[in-house]
Amino acid sequence: MNTILKWPGSKVRVMTELSAHLPAGARLVEPFAGSCAVMMNTDYPEYLVADINPDLINMYRQIKEHTRPFIVVAMALFSQNTTEESYYRVRKEFNENASMPLLERAAHFLYLNRHGYRGVCRYNLKGEFNIPFGHYAKPYYPLYEIEMFAEKAQRATFICAGYQETLGMVKAGDVVYCDPPYHGTFTEYHTGGFNEDDQHSLACYLMGISEHNPVILSNSDTLFTRSIYRAFDITKIIVARSVGVAAGKGKCASEIIAKRGPANERLGGISYSAESKTRAERYIEKYNLKHG
Ligand SMILES: C[S@@+](CC[C@H](N)C(=O)[O-])C[C@H]1O[C@@H](n2cnc3c(N)ncnc32)[C@H](O)[C@@H]1O
Repeated sequence: MNTILKWPGSKVRVMTELSAHLPAGARLVEPFAGSCAVMMNTDYPEYLVADINPDLINMYRQIKEHTRPFIVVAMALFSQNTTEESYYRVRKEFNENASMPLLERAAHFLYLNRHGYRGVCRYNLKGEFNIPFGHYAKPYYPLYEIEMFAEKAQRATFICAGYQETLGMVKAGDVVYCDPPYHGTFTEYHTGGFNEDDQHSLACYLMGISEHNPVILSNSDTLFTRSIYRAFDITKIIVARSVGVAAGKGKCASEIIAKRGPANERLGGISYSAESKTRAERYIEKYNLKHG
């Protein structure tokens, strides 16, 4: 199903491929939640949904806790501000009114997302949302998506956090899915970027977590990502582009889905002595042995 927000890098279009790699578990932990496409298209008993963007998390919390008031306030904003001039007025209010109540701020965020250029979310160094008007003939009001989200959100906890903090909350039985800003592409979801050091440090964290929990990760298919995830099982997929210089009709990019889980799972149920486990793992990785 579609999401409330338009979001660069949304996983809606690759859910069929991605779902095949997501194992069952007690809770799905998503440190880079973005538009919550993965939460909305899976069925885990619980979710820990996190993102570094406070506006995004505030909107999710407001919808979960105050669904009806949110729908009404956001609908009013959409119907009363239909011109380019009014877009910039709403954006100014969002950036300058520090005492705006959280519910209204959440509605403003949705309005800006659905009226701004291609759903891009970018802030300048002062933390101001600076996306230009999107020139949509008829901006879409995602009423159905908000209602569906509010229902599902009752099983979710939303936190505004960097991925390190979220990964520190992973417990036994959790499945971890990570969709960080892609290597070598558009990374401006928030004031801070996501460079190769960040990519590398995330890969190190995930390597540690995968000793105890299944970890699944999406990223662009580059020599760099294949190198930092070389200990993971890698599947390549082809995806249509939606934002960036390569965006446009018929433009595609290749991505990877990297997956690694606890040794017992990787070893496919065969037992090895403690001494030979690591050796066995090396054979499995080197010869890409699969277990059915
Ligand atoms: C590729 S998008 C996720 C898209 C999402 N899977 C979807 O389907 O919409 C990456 C997300 O990571 C968030 N992000 C960027 N840096 C982060 C960090 N250091 N810690 C946590 N989240 C971060 C961004 O705000 C953005 O929402």
